[in-house]
Amino acid sequence: MDYFNYRGSDLYAEDVAVSEIAKAMGTPCYVYSKATLLRHFHAYADALTDIPHLVCFGMKANSNLAILEVLAEAGAGFDIVSVGELERVLAAGGDPAKVVFSGVGKQRHEMQRALEVGIHCFNVESLAELDQLNAVALDLGTVAPVSLRINPDVDPKTHPYISTGLNGSKFGIAHKDTLMAYRHAASLPGLNPIGIDCHIGSQLTDIAPLLEALDKLMELVASLKADGIALHHIDLGGGLGVPYQEETPPHPSEYMAAVKAKIADTGLTLVLEPGRSIAANAGIFVTEAILTKTNQDHHFVVVDGAMNDLIRPSLYGAWQNIIPVSTAPHDGQVEASFDVVGPVCESGDFLGKARTLRVGAGDLLAVRSAGAYGFVMASNYNTRPRAPEILVDGDQMHVIRERETLESLWALEHRVNR
Ligand code: LLP
Repeated sequence: MDYFNYRGSDLYAEDVAVSEIAKAMGTPCYVYSKATLLRHFHAYADALTDIPHLVCFGMKANSNLAILEVLAEAGAGFDIVSVGELERVLAAGGDPAKVVFSGVGKQRHEMQRALEVGIHCFNVESLAELDQLNAVALDLGTVAPVSLRINPDVDPKTHPYISTGLNGSKFGIAHKDTLMAYRHAASLPGLNPIGIDCHIGSQLTDIAPLLEALDKLMELVASLKADGIALHHIDLGGGLGVPYQEETPPHPSEYMAAVKAKIADTGLTLVLEPGRSIAANAGIFVTEAILTKTNQDHHFVVVDGAMNDLIRPSLYGAWQNIIPVSTAPHDGQVEASFDVVGPVCESGDFLGKARTLRVGAGDLLAVRSAGAYGFVMASNYNTRPRAPEILVDGDQMHVIRERETLESLWALEHRVNR
């Protein structure tokens, strides 16, 4: 459930008309709902009050400072993948002690900074990384808390680009190497193995693979204990899907109930890294129709938002719902099955294909489920300034990122003849 609903013929974000936001901020723009964001975070946190847990928002999904601030105030930790994300957490007032650091290629300076600010745990993905982190920790005269990301070889049944837990993926340590890797970690004086983790993929619409991965991790925790290595937490990563189209992913509380039934008696802390399921349906991308055109019976509506703003449709063939900001009919509209395309010079530049819409020049359209992996994946391709981001809270709208200026796009560039 979210807080983007029609009142009469007008789409609202909470208590603010989306058309008013577009009028004030111009298009394209991203609009987020604070109540939706919090609702989705609490769907996890409230289901876990009776077991030790840490919900770390997978902030690669949406890393705007205001979004992080809202979640940090609600008690969230953060799953980071770069020192840049770490600095964002700190800038947003987040608690470094609630940060887990994921990623297959952490650099020395990134490890160093994370150790200095005292993060909760490093999710380590290889033997080489164990050695590198050990060296950095020893140089700083400290001990790094680590969890090993195990590749449980479970098929998440999702898009190949976002499947990460199968053998042959670049991620994690092979399941069969777990004991050896933990023994190695335990032998290094700069490391303290405290947890085990996995992340098998994203946009999972069935919890069976997630629970299968949990079973595998729990077996490993038991064999490690027998080997004298006692762990404190299991981190299941993120991955729960959202309804973009006709998917029916389980509600986080359903997922959590199933996880709790397995983990509750172990006394282990449950760490999670959900990104999409918290942020996706807390955001929309608003764009204005520039014109409609018909090429040999094929209808296009050319909008001012493009693949540089929202790349998921182009990159993954992702389907996101596209709805009118006003359903009131007016003259000049055409009703047809449209490809919704942007102005970028690529045939891959589309936000949606074959969408039945009634639309005319100047009409506003909203692409739904754009709060995760939307703005964060935007680029300046075709010298297009990135869109502003607006956070709605009840009847208030806050500009949480301004539209980029053209000058800023080349501000770091240097001509040779000057
Ligand atoms: N933890 C780790 C280690 C991850 O790699 C990811 C996402 C997450 C947590 C959060 O997963 P989520 O709960 O959001 O599924 N750009 C793609 C999605 C890439 C996901 C990458 N990893 C998309 O737009 O579909």
